Amino acid sequence: MAKLKKGFLWGGAVAAHQMEGGWDLGGKGISIADIMTAGTNDQARQITANIDQNHYYPNHEAIDFYHRYPEDVQLFADLGINAFRTSIAWSRVFPNGDEAEPNEAGLAFYDDLFDALLKKGIEPVVTLSHFEIPYHLVTKYGGWRNRKLIGFFVNFARVVFNRYKDKVRYWMTFNEINNQSALNDGSILTNSGIITATGENKEEAMYQAAHYELVASALAVQIGHQINPNFQIGAMIAMVPLYPATSDPKDVFKSQRAMQARYWFADVQAKGKYPNWLTKYQKDSNFHLDITLSDLDVLLAGTVDYIGFSYYMSMTVKSKKDEPINFKYEEQKDIVRNPTIPESEWGWQIDSRGLRFAMNWLNDRYGLPLFIVENGLGAVDQLDDQHRVHDNYRINYLKDHIHQMEIAVDFDGVDLIGYTPWGFIDLVSAGTGQMSKRYGMIYVDKDDAGHGTLKRYKKDSYFWYQKVIASNGEDLSTD
Ligand code: BG6
Repeated sequence: MAKLKKGFLWGGAVAAHQMEGGWDLGGKGISIADIMTAGTNDQARQITANIDQNHYYPNHEAIDFYHRYPEDVQLFADLGINAFRTSIAWSRVFPNGDEAEPNEAGLAFYDDLFDALLKKGIEPVVTLSHFEIPYHLVTKYGGWRNRKLIGFFVNFARVVFNRYKDKVRYWMTFNEINNQSALNDGSILTNSGIITATGENKEEAMYQAAHYELVASALAVQIGHQINPNFQIGAMIAMVPLYPATSDPKDVFKSQRAMQARYWFADVQAKGKYPNWLTKYQKDSNFHLDITLSDLDVLLAGTVDYIGFSYYMSMTVKSKKDEPINFKYEEQKDIVRNPTIPESEWGWQIDSRGLRFAMNWLNDRYGLPLFIVENGLGAVDQLDDQHRVHDNYRINYLKDHIHQMEIAVDFDGVDLIGYTPWGFIDLVSAGTGQMSKRYGMIYVDKDDAGHGTLKRYKKDSYFWYQKVIASNGEDLSTD
């Protein structure tokens, strides 16, 4: 099995705010990740108006990659990866977000990090905005509901594209830009820096923010290609196939509408225009959206080179009795449990075949190369007396998903750039702020309250993935 192309990117993925720490070092400003407290699966993370000494903020120190990256990069090199997906913390480069000139110390940090990676033959793959914007852009401008953010983002993009034009080839603009379609407070904040006011129409705010982000993304694509025509600049979407609960045509259509609602963002980024159903829906909803004709030209001129996506799970939707023809898909209410597949301790449905489905679906819809930039299992690990973690559950998850990925490439002919499993070194969970929701192949000694030595230990999955990479995906055996 396998037959992945030579030069396939085998890597690991992280995001700046979930691992760097050093939240106030080197001139870095406060980002929205810095005002989020720790939560659990049942208790949402709180968003505080300022840094409140009475709270614990897990992203402030995270896993202290800011200081420890030289030894971590060595661990990555020993693992054998040739790609490392991370993000640039916008607030390290523009502490407030609206300055004209960047913070040199912030830029120098990424120069050093990228150099350390390149020296080991590891290619950096970089997301410009991964769930964090400078907090000042939230308090002064209201986040992405303000058109001014386009200019600030484009300035940030231009600066880092110029600075790292000879070090980074693969870029993504906004992490999981479509996550905010779920309309929960956490996702609207992390995606768009929006803290919704009481009575504000969340959906309208989301459509406006997403539009400005899409325009900013398209401008960044154009500027990036001018700076270096070899840049590959991608979209990044959270890919969660939404299956119909039954073969009842009502469920089937509902799942189609759910897919439309979740993936129109990528439609705009890949095809350069809004889908008809959405333009009609926005009009019928009487939303007051600032979408100009020149914005539409920008979208068309700035389409992406590839589709980057995360894949963790599938979901299943069910129609309601007597649903009106103009029903609205509401993710929080319309999802039902799929009895045919298991779920993780955090209730995420484990569906490796869904990855093959997702790859085929994306390939058919966009006809662009794909890049799996996140995949993995969040689970509780036990470090034993010998400092080993026997995480066979994680190995099995990864094995099954890589197997389906290889089927999609080898049998279905999908063009795939690479595979960078999420949080391959333990880090702070974005959703819950926990350390105990671990995805890593490298264990980091730290708990949910922030205690621990921060020492790194190789889990069983580290050695297994090392073998997978060395065989370019041929050897997935687990014995
Ligand atoms: C994706 C994000 O949604 O999933 C990551 O891009 C995130 O930032 C990952 O960490 C896993 O989610 P969580 O909530 O388990 O950390």
